[in-house]
Amino acid sequence: MQKSDRKPKFLKDYAPPDYLIEEVALDVALAPKAARVASKLRIRPNPKVATGGKPLVLDGEDLTLESLTLDGKALSPGDYEVKDGSLTIKRVPARPFTLEAFTTCDPEANTELSGLYLSRGTYCTQCEPEGFRRITYFLDRPDVLAVYTVRIEAERDAAPVLLSNGNPVARGDIPGTNRHFATWHDPFPKPSYLFALVGGNLAAVPDEFVTASGRKVALTIYVEPGKQDRCAWAMESLKRSMRWDEERFGREYDLDVFNIVAVSDFNMGAMENKGLNIFNDKLVLARPDTASDGDYVSIESVIAHEYFHNWTGDRVTCRDWFQLCLKEGLTVFRDQEFTGDTRSGAVERIGAVRILKSNQFPEDAGPLAHPVRPPSFIEINNFYTATVYEKGAEVCRMLQTLLGREGFRKGLDLYFERHDGEAVTVEDFVDAMADVSGRDLKQFMRWYTQAGTPELACSLDYDAHAKTARLTVSQIIPPTPGQAKKEPMLIPLKVGLIGANGDELPLTLADGTPLVDGLLEVTEREQVFEFRDIPAPPTPSLLRNFSAPVRLSTNLDPGQIEFLMAHDSDPFNRWQAAQTYATNLLTDGARDGGNIERVTGKEAARLAQALAVTSRDSSLLTAYRAEFLKLPGEADIARELSRNVDTDAVHGAREALRKKIGEEIRETLTELYEANADSGPYSPDPESAGRRAVRNAALDLLVATGDTSEIARAERHYRDATNMTDSIAALAILSHVQAPVRDKALDHFYARWQDEPLVLDKWFAVQARAASSSSVETVRTLLSHPKFSLKNPNRVRAVIGSFIHGNPTAFNRPDGAGYRLLAEQAIEIDGFNPHMAARLLGAFESWRILEPIRQARAKSVLQDLAARTLSTDSYEIVTKTLGEG
Ligand code: BES
Ligand code: ZN
Repeated sequence: MQKSDRKPKFLKDYAPPDYLIEEVALDVALAPKAARVASKLRIRPNPKVATGGKPLVLDGEDLTLESLTLDGKALSPGDYEVKDGSLTIKRVPARPFTLEAFTTCDPEANTELSGLYLSRGTYCTQCEPEGFRRITYFLDRPDVLAVYTVRIEAERDAAPVLLSNGNPVARGDIPGTNRHFATWHDPFPKPSYLFALVGGNLAAVPDEFVTASGRKVALTIYVEPGKQDRCAWAMESLKRSMRWDEERFGREYDLDVFNIVAVSDFNMGAMENKGLNIFNDKLVLARPDTASDGDYVSIESVIAHEYFHNWTGDRVTCRDWFQLCLKEGLTVFRDQEFTGDTRSGAVERIGAVRILKSNQFPEDAGPLAHPVRPPSFIEINNFYTATVYEKGAEVCRMLQTLLGREGFRKGLDLYFERHDGEAVTVEDFVDAMADVSGRDLKQFMRWYTQAGTPELACSLDYDAHAKTARLTVSQIIPPTPGQAKKEPMLIPLKVGLIGANGDELPLTLADGTPLVDGLLEVTEREQVFEFRDIPAPPTPSLLRNFSAPVRLSTNLDPGQIEFLMAHDSDPFNRWQAAQTYATNLLTDGARDGGNIERVTGKEAARLAQALAVTSRDSSLLTAYRAEFLKLPGEADIARELSRNVDTDAVHGAREALRKKIGEEIRETLTELYEANADSGPYSPDPESAGRRAVRNAALDLLVATGDTSEIARAERHYRDATNMTDSIAALAILSHVQAPVRDKALDHFYARWQDEPLVLDKWFAVQARAASSSSVETVRTLLSHPKFSLKNPNRVRAVIGSFIHGNPTAFNRPDGAGYRLLAEQAIEIDGFNPHMAARLLGAFESWRILEPIRQARAKSVLQDLAARTLSTDSYEIVTKTLGEG
């Protein structure tokens, strides 16, 4: 493997390229062991840089160079040098010239799944961020934008379908051979990371979309033959996304065709290649019997996400990889808004905040913390992080909150108007927002440059005499690696004051100005906001709709939190109140080895009653009610404890509270279970999915009582299920039960689904997540199951991913067996797929919050890893996780 070195690259060292490539003609002849690539590049010195005879240095990795010509003249080996992932041509003209390179690469041997590879016989590519250099020599950086014409040639039988970016221009047979070709042209200049090519025996599911201005677009989803009946939901989601982007952001699609290809081996979820999105098949294929409601939601949002990149990423792209949040944060924000508009804004917000807190907060609090725009990295593949994505989306959301929906829309319009066809920076984006709003967003820029989750402490004091309420707000941004001291941030803080009868009080600031939408702007380290004409002591509702990605602490007492659980008119905060109440009990219950009385006492009973009231309230959406019945996860509790965490105590406290709630409101849960039974055929619509969610959440709490009649109910639920949602929910519940029904159900599921890879992944995942003292051994058994393969990323995520992220007691077993298992597997994977290995090793990021024994175990496993020969990817994660240089 020729790979880049381990030296960090710095944002401050950015320099524009010496040369530009404006036109690319590729001719690719597909073959499993030696795909031949002829590239013809129109290159010119960058007029913005005084190049003056500098050598031309192209990126290239794992390529075999056959020949090279410059302006038609063959270059001899003395004219160039191939080494360390680059091709240097010593002398090139100071005017435009044409470089032709003839290389081969080996798709079959490509186990990294970056560049051109084979997935179950289908040729496909993944070029973001640096895969194009594994296909041909190139200036493989996002600020080099070119127009591509691509000719693909392959055996007709092996690859009847040949696709690339843009529009199709020609296709035909190659006379006298069993081969054929297709030619594609993409008129939009794009960076190499958006290049894609597919060749294979695929079935087409066609459809059509007519854009707002009347342009017809041919839509096609390509899947493995036989799976055409699982594409309807993805197609429907695509059409709804296209319409939504027109209506909400005025963005139309711009080519004659839009193609989606589903492949089985894919390192990530999906990729936004211009006009040719390539997807992990688990994010395309859905049928009621094979996919759960959760899968349907994921498919809808990822289809939307990749489609939305057509504008935020493709038409306007990133200048360099430090600006990754410019496309990813913004596009996640856009897909969240789409889901919120399509389903329920509150449920979407709850889901997004759950993900932010469980994935990004730990990252921001640990050794891998970095700003939304990192100032340096060793391996860019390690920076597709929760911070870049999820916090990046929050930063866009804060801009929308500050500017209003309309202001934000205008800002985005201006951004596209100014930068269409360009590769730009975060500053260009924020400048557009500043210019349309007339606001100075300099302080706001700190969200992009300062790492760490701000801690916002709020306390409200009421003055009965003056009838004023004073809200004191202070912000502290904790130190993070490389950033000891922080400056105060601009934090949009949405608040409300609620009167004793549950009414919203009008908000008037001390100077008499009414506070619109309850939006305060915190800019200082400490600040006081005074509200006047408040007749009686109010209950404050703070950080409504989670208006900023901060950790909030308040001086509210349990009674006030209970009040908000019942009365907050902000649906997000009403849910948050229930979570906070539960979290407080659970952290108390898990502290210092565990205090079970805390989670089985009077307050736990009050929580249970409050949950019963909300989950029964038929004026609320079912999906929203279901969210109330889901307790904070073990990782959430550990995060809130923040130090000396004993994962067994956390598990114990949570199980005890679940049992207590199940016992306390058993009647309500039974009623919910019975009243929400499905009738008629399966439909993935939010209301039906919400009913299933309530019912399954109720069942989960009922089974937590341990009562045999409830276990029998779960068994019936499994047996009677008519869709994957109920089937897998029942299986997951039974997987935690120590009774023969558990194995019976698992065996039944296996027998039914052993030949359906995506469904079998669920069978693997459920077992890897089941908490028991023998989980580590169970996982070892799964790893040697005949259907297990380390080479398929979905299966690796199903077993190893589920274990390390979904089974905290087992992963953190005090004897270190869970850590050793991860290290062992990661080392093996690192040998052939470093990106995948490095991602898995991210599971060590929170080792420092553990109690001393587990901490020592984790540390020694990390030290052992650091002493080995690892890929650059894994090396960066391991050494940074260990910290202290
Ligand atoms: N551009 C990414 C895909 C990608 C990620 C390529 C990392 C190379 C390295 C794509 O738009 C993306 O963000 N996909 C996400 C799903 C999305 C809905 C957040 C993914 O693949 O997980
Ligand atoms: Zn993306």
